[in-house]
Amino acid sequence: MSNTSTTSTNHRWQGVLPSAIEAVGNTPLIALDRLRDEHKLKCRILAKVEFFSVGGSVKDRIARRMIQKAEEDGTLIPGYSVIIEPTSGNTGIGLALISAIKGYRCVITLPNKMSREKEATLRALGAEVVRTPTDAAWDSEESHIGVARKLRDSIPGGVILDQYSNENNPLAHFHETYQEIKHSLDTSNFANKRIAALVAGAGTGGTITGLSKALRADQKAQGEKEHAVVVGVDPVGSILAGGCVGPYEVEGIGYDFIPEVLDPGKPNIDQWVKTGDDESFAMVRQVIRTEGLLTGGSSGSALAGAIKFLQDTPEGQAIAQREGANVVVVLPDGIRNYISKEWFLSESLNAQPTHLSGEKAQILSNNIAPATNGKPNGTASKGINGNTNGHTNGIAHEENGIVHVDQVKTREGEE
Ligand SMILES: Cc1ncc(COP(=O)(O)O)c(C=O)c1O
Repeated sequence: MSNTSTTSTNHRWQGVLPSAIEAVGNTPLIALDRLRDEHKLKCRILAKVEFFSVGGSVKDRIARRMIQKAEEDGTLIPGYSVIIEPTSGNTGIGLALISAIKGYRCVITLPNKMSREKEATLRALGAEVVRTPTDAAWDSEESHIGVARKLRDSIPGGVILDQYSNENNPLAHFHETYQEIKHSLDTSNFANKRIAALVAGAGTGGTITGLSKALRADQKAQGEKEHAVVVGVDPVGSILAGGCVGPYEVEGIGYDFIPEVLDPGKPNIDQWVKTGDDESFAMVRQVIRTEGLLTGGSSGSALAGAIKFLQDTPEGQAIAQREGANVVVVLPDGIRNYISKEWFLSESLNAQPTHLSGEKAQILSNNIAPATNGKPNGTASKGINGNTNGHTNGIAHEENGIVHVDQVKTREGEE
């Protein structure tokens, strides 16, 4: 048992939930001790794992809050309004999920680069999807933002809640995500419950802005003198942290403009780290293999950025050397969104065989029977049933590193 767990009477939810809307958020904070050790760090890496939320991402809370507030101020009229939103997918999934429950019609505009899984999920939830050119400038007519505006202006009842400028985007993280992180730390058995550093990627910037503002306010209220470091992660090819516009594969983070809800300078964000596709995807594979966490691409960016900060910057190195220092990293979504992407499939289906691979093939392959003690004897020319009558009844063949079990031949000539 890990010594980071709370008591077994702590439940995620109380009672029966009236709908899936109440299953938004309340995601766990998970200690990545194995990843920490592999990178020779002494501090704790604590992952806020957002794929546990009902729609599968960090965006569910903002979708719920933007809809709720728009209903309260009369912007959204149940039974009439049509929710239209430009998104890299996850905000759309959150909005479509709540729309399915509340009965809103929903149109999502999505750049071509975003995964088929996101499109399929959106359509399964009943949303209409419009694909737009990935390299269209954000303020062009063809961009996902431009197309959403055009649809809004033409569809009766069309409303864009606009995650790029809606204050309820950062406020969802200020009031909810941060409080969840705080609750996880407060109910842990850590001697030190304060946050030394917080690391998150930025798309609209709502997550990092809301979390940073809540963290600053909380530390001020607690009278903490030590300044928690907030680190933003931005892909190469995005301009949020400077640099030039260019192509990259990671979805959901980075833009060619600074969204209104992102406050990119101090005191909100202390430092930015740039990450590339390769290091992000390599980190996804590592966290899946070492921590069993099925995260998406931008989670790999956030973790790669956190480790760069801890290893390559003086401020980060000081934290990395402190045992018990808490570094919180936001992992925005899960691999469900990217299963068909080449960066995932090529590596996972061609993964390095484990030491069990040869043994497994040998046990199941033609003419080789397992020894009775459970270990392959490697030499007997018997079938799996231990036949010694001359015919073999091997049950498997190997193809591209995968053993396929065939139909077992029980008697000569019979399948
Ligand atoms: C996969 C993924 N990661 C990260 C983010 C960034 O979140 P935010 O828009 O709050 O900056 C998003 C936002 O869409 C996302 O979809």
